[in-house]
Amino acid sequence: MEKKTVSVKKVLPHASPNITYETVLTTKSSNGVVNAAPIGVKFLDEELSCFLLRIYKKSRTYNNLLETRVGVVNITRNPIVFIKYLLRDKKRYLEREIEDALNVDAPKLKDAEAYIEFTVESVHHRINLGEFYCLAVNAYEGVKTAQPYSRAEYALVELSVNISRVEPYLEQGLDLSELLNSIAYCLKVIDKTAAKTVIEDYSRLLLSSLSDHSSLLLKRHLSRLGIHLQ
Ligand SMILES: Cc1cc2nc3c(=O)[nH]c(=O)nc-3n(C[C@H](O)[C@H](O)[C@H](O)COP(=O)(O)O)c2cc1C
Repeated sequence: MEKKTVSVKKVLPHASPNITYETVLTTKSSNGVVNAAPIGVKFLDEELSCFLLRIYKKSRTYNNLLETRVGVVNITRNPIVFIKYLLRDKKRYLEREIEDALNVDAPKLKDAEAYIEFTVESVHHRINLGEFYCLAVNAYEGVKTAQPYSRAEYALVELSVNISRVEPYLEQGLDLSELLNSIAYCLKVIDKTAAKTVIEDYSRLLLSSLSDHSSLLLKRHLSRLGIHLQ
């Protein structure tokens, strides 16, 4: 297995250090069970060879990275991919949409725009999360997409981030009001800028990633603001 560190700058010439980029991380457990989850990546150097992942301890991604210490950062701007891999029932997408990475023993998405295969160099353990310091060992382009800017797409990604925070906030006893208002705002942007079915389809999927209790709590809050989800 090739372990030489590579520059990611050649593949992502417009990316910069110290900015968090939303990506989908693909990993495998030590007994071979594959996974994909949306995770933020922060590059730490000008060549974009080193990066930091801050990952909640309760996630499968956290356990997989501790066990195997390799993974793939899949670069995509497609919000639907973020939503799909947030779901509890993501196995049905994984079966169709992944293949083996080239230089590390981990899966990758078939249709991402670029890939960074990496090894975990060190892990710092915090209360609720692990900080994984990673090195890129292979980086290459995937499918090319030319996509005009759409507020709905960015609101969908923001919506998925906010929904993924509802349960960690509840577990930590944090105040939910700002988070719930942000969810309402994202839904309003999507309603204004996308086809009517987008809210129906994706909010239903996103709500299914929550427990019954959290989903009810969110629906109640939104209905007080005049937003009625199925
Ligand atoms: C766009 C986006 C970015 C996210 N970034 C992170 C992150 O950086 N760290 C993290 O622990 N969770 C992050 N999440 C939440 C995880 O994706 C979520 O907890 C997921 O269910 C973990 O899946 P797993 O248990 O299969 O690993 C993010 C969610 C979204 C939608």
